[in-house]
Amino acid sequence: RFAQLTEEHVAYFRDVLGKDHALIDGVTSNAVEDDLEAFNADWTRKYRGHCKLVLKPGTTLEVSQILKYCNDNHLAVVPQGGNTGLVGGSVPVFDEIVMNMARMNQIRSFDDVSGILVADSGAILEVVDNWLAEKGYIFPLDLGAKGTCQIGGNVSTNAGGLRLLRYGSLHGSVLGLEAVLPDGTIVDDLSKLRKNNTGYDLKQLFIGAEGTIGVVTGVSIICPQRSPAVNVAFFGLDSYEKAQLAFKEAKGRLGEILSAFEMMDGISIDFVHKVTGNRKPLEADHPFYCLVETSGSNADHDGEKLEAFLEDVMGQEIVSDGVVAQDDTQIQTLWKWREGVPEVVGHWGGVYKYDVSIPLADLYTIVEDTKAKVQEAGLMGDTDEYPVVDVIGYGHMGDANVHLNVAVRRYDKRVEEVLEPWVYEWIEKREGSISAEHGLGLAKKKYIGYSRSPTMVGLMKHIKDHYDPNGIMNPYKYI
Ligand code: FAD
Ligand code: MLT
Ligand code: ZN
Repeated sequence: RFAQLTEEHVAYFRDVLGKDHALIDGVTSNAVEDDLEAFNADWTRKYRGHCKLVLKPGTTLEVSQILKYCNDNHLAVVPQGGNTGLVGGSVPVFDEIVMNMARMNQIRSFDDVSGILVADSGAILEVVDNWLAEKGYIFPLDLGAKGTCQIGGNVSTNAGGLRLLRYGSLHGSVLGLEAVLPDGTIVDDLSKLRKNNTGYDLKQLFIGAEGTIGVVTGVSIICPQRSPAVNVAFFGLDSYEKAQLAFKEAKGRLGEILSAFEMMDGISIDFVHKVTGNRKPLEADHPFYCLVETSGSNADHDGEKLEAFLEDVMGQEIVSDGVVAQDDTQIQTLWKWREGVPEVVGHWGGVYKYDVSIPLADLYTIVEDTKAKVQEAGLMGDTDEYPVVDVIGYGHMGDANVHLNVAVRRYDKRVEEVLEPWVYEWIEKREGSISAEHGLGLAKKKYIGYSRSPTMVGLMKHIKDHYDPNGIMNPYKYI
């Protein structure tokens, strides 16, 4: 349904962007050939496209010119940020053109009183956050891929991350967006207002749209004051039931200073230990671990509160053992036990990833049931003949979001057949979400019906058709 890339097309793009910003993989005889592997392969190395052209626009106007041309000529486009997405959405399926946003990375404005930041979508999350730190502010989103992902990619996936519990979702903190529609229309909705009830809030459609209705070029976002006092505790527990009790206690005792409550099962921590060789934070092994972070204004006061919380939950035998970080280095070290899990889980060859929301009471049951399922199928074991190494669960317990990961020695059809659609049916029965924070991409496109009714999917299709009638934006994905 799309046109093949020709020399004439390439000449147009090079005219708009200049030769250095239209990277070609051997299309024309006079082209500089580029290795486009990094743009074609996703972070998990599970999805790989075959694009022959990567465009790197430097301005919103260039994005507009490119999209209009692609739309008029029926050329398919994949918007790409830092390419850290986990559902195969950021790379082509076939030979779609990649529009990589890395060059649009400037901070446009910042209001030191309100904390409202306006920046290009290609700005890297960690770079923006470090910039804000110097001004006493914090970006209201943090995640393990911060060094590579872009704020436009975060908005486009509606990333949740490690502190959603405290700062809420991007649907609340993003105040405005600048985006370009497939026909080249520039939608300038870069509002810097907290309150704006004049008509439909159209920017919300782009938050989590995964590049299917347009390209986000600018983001206006309200950033909270950075808390001067951050404290972290890491503790081990006997059961998931106890982790729930600890969460309840943490909400009650830490209240307004609680900024993260993360859970990892024992095998997740074993994995990090095996791959990194680092000494575990607690002497003995535990079936479950939680990381609690507080962010407040008084280090001593907050530290005392956290210590008292830990003593209390240990006294009640909810928590078996725990440690409170004594300085920034220890805080970073403890966080690495949590942030390191996605980095190591693919170590044995690959990983099947499921990012799900389920009511808290059942959050870990999915992990236990999945493990039983692959064991029953005779697919899990310690030696090479078994494809599955183990099944782990970790994630944002404070947001009822668990990451069910099946670590494998190799991708194997039999494992896939056991897991899918069984996992999605399991989620549907508990009225959960099959995609809590990573999106649909290519990985979950065909399973949307497990979390959304036919009416909802129909409405989504109307929106897609309205904004992108030729279907050029990130085709084959989402819906
Ligand atoms: P990409 O991966 O490049 O793109 C993601 C999607 O957005 C694609 O569909 C792409 O087409 C689209 N897109 C990108 N930029 C634009 C744009 N400017 N306009 C329109 N569409 C665009 N996610 C969480 O929610 N919480 C986490 O805690 C978390 N932790 C992670 C930890 C690791 C180690 C990794 C690798 C990933 C993690 N993720 C997490 C996944 C997460 O979605 C991404 O890291 C991030 O939000 C994607 O940003 P990106 O710039 O890399 O986007
Ligand atoms: C996380 O919370 O670590 C991320 O969402 C990445 C993952 O699920 O592996
Ligand atoms: Zn996550």
